[in-house]
Amino acid sequence: MYAKAAKIIKSANRCVAFTGAGISVESGIPPFRGENGLWNRYDPMTFDIQYFMKHTRHSWEVFREIFYEVFGRVKPNLAHYSLAEMEAKNLLKAVVTQNVDNLHAEAGSRTIHEFHGSLKKLICLGCKREYKVSEIDLDILPPVCLQCGGILKPDVVFFGEDIPEPARAHSFDEASRADCFILIGTTGTVAPANMIPGAAKSNGAGIIEINPFPSAYTPSITDIFLGDKASVAMEKLMEELDKLE
Ligand code: APR
Repeated sequence: MYAKAAKIIKSANRCVAFTGAGISVESGIPPFRGENGLWNRYDPMTFDIQYFMKHTRHSWEVFREIFYEVFGRVKPNLAHYSLAEMEAKNLLKAVVTQNVDNLHAEAGSRTIHEFHGSLKKLICLGCKREYKVSEIDLDILPPVCLQCGGILKPDVVFFGEDIPEPARAHSFDEASRADCFILIGTTGTVAPANMIPGAAKSNGAGIIEINPFPSAYTPSITDIFLGDKASVAMEKLMEELDKLE
């Protein structure tokens, strides 16, 4: 199966990767669902925008515990680096990611569409001023804007919020132009992100899926299922791609 997947990637005009929390599990970031899933321990509604507006301090406390305790400490793994290497070799055109951990950028990927935003920025709900998270002391919650005193929010998409532009448009544009789409580490349970692989499929893209477990995509749109962990699968895939060079 790896040799077949490598041939599809090699012969594609435009191969794009679509990643979810699973690609960062081997970097030490737990997924949201499944074994050791965050939603088994935390209530996802803590990250609903209405809850955040009403219970800002509590939402920030949980958010900091889950995300900012590890943000900046965890490192990319072989899977992130492999995607960056594929891009450098012109085997991959872009990464569309649901992840907010910035690990694709740290691994050296260049064209990245962050469909759910990123932890690396905070935004003022009052004047919309943006801050690098490193500029703000998160020991004092909720953090406030230095300019207008408004509440700062992580620049990630909370439940009930719209997907940011241009990431939304660019992500669906990638799906409409790709003839090869590599899904890595995602359950396919959250809309509208989970519509992107389907859009690629309906445009005729070959769907290669990397996941140790089946997802919602596996029985419906996946053409080649590589049932390994992301770093194991990407190492095998890179070996097969090297043979085709
Ligand atoms: N390598 C590859 N895949 C893995 C690994 C691994 N080592 N470990 C787990 N997985 C797979 C799981 O089998 C599962 O299919 O990663 C997936 C993780 O699923 P989710 O936690 O649901 O992550 P994701 O699909 O990205 O969630 C989508 O939900 O809560 C929202 O905004 C959040 O972006 C997130 C969205």
